[in-house]
Amino acid sequence: MARKVRKAVFPVAGLGTRFLPATKSIPKEILTLVDRPLIQYAIDEAREAGITEFIFVTSRGKSALEDYFDRAPEIEKALTDKNKLDLLERLKPTNMDSGAIAYVRQHEALGLGHAVWCARRLIGNEPFAVLLPDDVIQSNVGCLKQMVDAYEESGGGNMVAAMEVSPDKTSAYGILDVKDGGDSGNVVNVKGMVEKPATEDAPSNLAVIGRYILTPQVLRNLNKIKRGAGGEIQLTDAIAEEITENDNVTGFRFAGQRYDCGSKAGFLQATVAFGLQHPDLRDEFEGYLNELVALRHAAQ
Ligand code: UTP
Repeated sequence: MARKVRKAVFPVAGLGTRFLPATKSIPKEILTLVDRPLIQYAIDEAREAGITEFIFVTSRGKSALEDYFDRAPEIEKALTDKNKLDLLERLKPTNMDSGAIAYVRQHEALGLGHAVWCARRLIGNEPFAVLLPDDVIQSNVGCLKQMVDAYEESGGGNMVAAMEVSPDKTSAYGILDVKDGGDSGNVVNVKGMVEKPATEDAPSNLAVIGRYILTPQVLRNLNKIKRGAGGEIQLTDAIAEEITENDNVTGFRFAGQRYDCGSKAGFLQATVAFGLQHPDLRDEFEGYLNELVALRHAAQ
């Protein structure tokens, strides 16, 4: 039986250059999608999947993230005095049990693989999840919960979330090389993984996105990985080694819509999608969008 996944790593040490100048002083993960920062969506998804230990890989200038998960005594007192219990309730998911959250620093942005490696001592010798907060997934059941369920059923190994992308977009992703006959259900058997291939070199159009369940062996692989594509230490390379050495990597086709909130276009799309789903905003926002579309049509 697979060991329970209790720990999750949140790599948040990237520079977020695509959102400059905003990210000059605000961590990307604090940017707000409707009324919650990106990081809150990732934490909520991890909690739903049964994660109890949260490991952040941070860097200089990310203190707003640490404060976000701390208590806010002044705000809490003001809300209590004014009997604004509904607002107090909204703060609850931002509080972490003492000792449930840990921070480790990545001193230089050497890539996602390096960021995960920085957490090796906190992870120890057990399976762990990795969630990239800029991938936000809208779904009925959280993406990581879907993966944990499938992982427990399949008995362990490494699992990466996968989705189909249009062939001209493969160079933006890690792409799975699927085994013959390996793509019959949600769990896809893979024989290789390539980081950011050009369309003509891509072995499929199944792209890896920012949710992983990994074995501690991947951390050991990271010990010896050299800088790969883009001069960074790639997590993909350490996972690909597991395919070669142990043939224990699967892709998981999750149910849901993924938004790349690390890019401006993806962030705007997510804002619209989550706005349309928000119970307090839905009707007004939809009315506004319809009006906007009608006006644009009329102007053409
Ligand atoms: P990105 O590739 O989106 O890089 O990282 P970035 O620096 O955040 O953003 P841009 O491209 O400059 O706009 C994907 C994830 O990996 C983390 C990021 O914080 C993000 O969650 N990451 C990346 C690190 O923690 N450390 C790194 O060295 C690189």
